[in-house]
Amino acid sequence: MKVLVIYGSARKNGNTAQMLEAALSAFPKEAEIKKAYLGELKFSGCGPCRECKTTGYCTINDDIQSVLKDMIWAEIILFGSPSQFSDVSSELKMLMERTWWMKGQLRNKIGGYVITGRRYIESTMNTLHAFMLRHRMILGGSGALGYTFTEMGGLENDPLAIRDAFGTGQRLVEMYQIIYENKLNR
Ligand SMILES: Cc1cc2nc3c(=O)[nH]c(=O)nc-3n(C[C@H](O)[C@H](O)[C@H](O)COP(=O)(O)O)c2cc1C
Repeated sequence: MKVLVIYGSARKNGNTAQMLEAALSAFPKEAEIKKAYLGELKFSGCGPCRECKTTGYCTINDDIQSVLKDMIWAEIILFGSPSQFSDVSSELKMLMERTWWMKGQLRNKIGGYVITGRRYIESTMNTLHAFMLRHRMILGGSGALGYTFTEMGGLENDPLAIRDAFGTGQRLVEMYQIIYENKLNR
């Protein structure tokens, strides 16, 4: 089971990271897990070059290239993002743009997400759904929300957040078992 976890917050140990760790705790110990902390990487969104139209891959040479490679490697991709101005973080949005060249390469990968915030989170969810559907990924889990606003307190204000994040992890594992191990438990 190859899992890539994408930490979309600039804060490495913030609310979003805690939700992701809770989701990860549902994975079996033999899972191969890679972690990408977008806040630690120097990279841009998609630019004007359109070079991928002729090369078939993104030619912008920056830190995100290894994450793009890991997305293709992964069987499960778990995204985490704070809601920022009613959308995913700018770091995660830049990563999304940089996958424009990946025609079909994320197809049928299992995708899930956790998000944190307290308002307008629907449009954040919408961006994640649209991204995964655009790439023909298989959506696993219903997405877990951590109801937070850092300046007024973190996840301790939402007793269901960690449980829901764990449930998202469980659902991704279940989807993997259905698809890769032919285990359908009704
Ligand atoms: C630039 C910025 C914009 C934000 N916009 C929203 C927002 O639209 N809705 C919301 O609920 N929270 C918003 N927040 C609050 C964060 O989503 C919230 O504090 C989140 O839990 C932070 O996650 P982190 O600890 O993983 O960084 C915003 C925070 C920042 C820094």
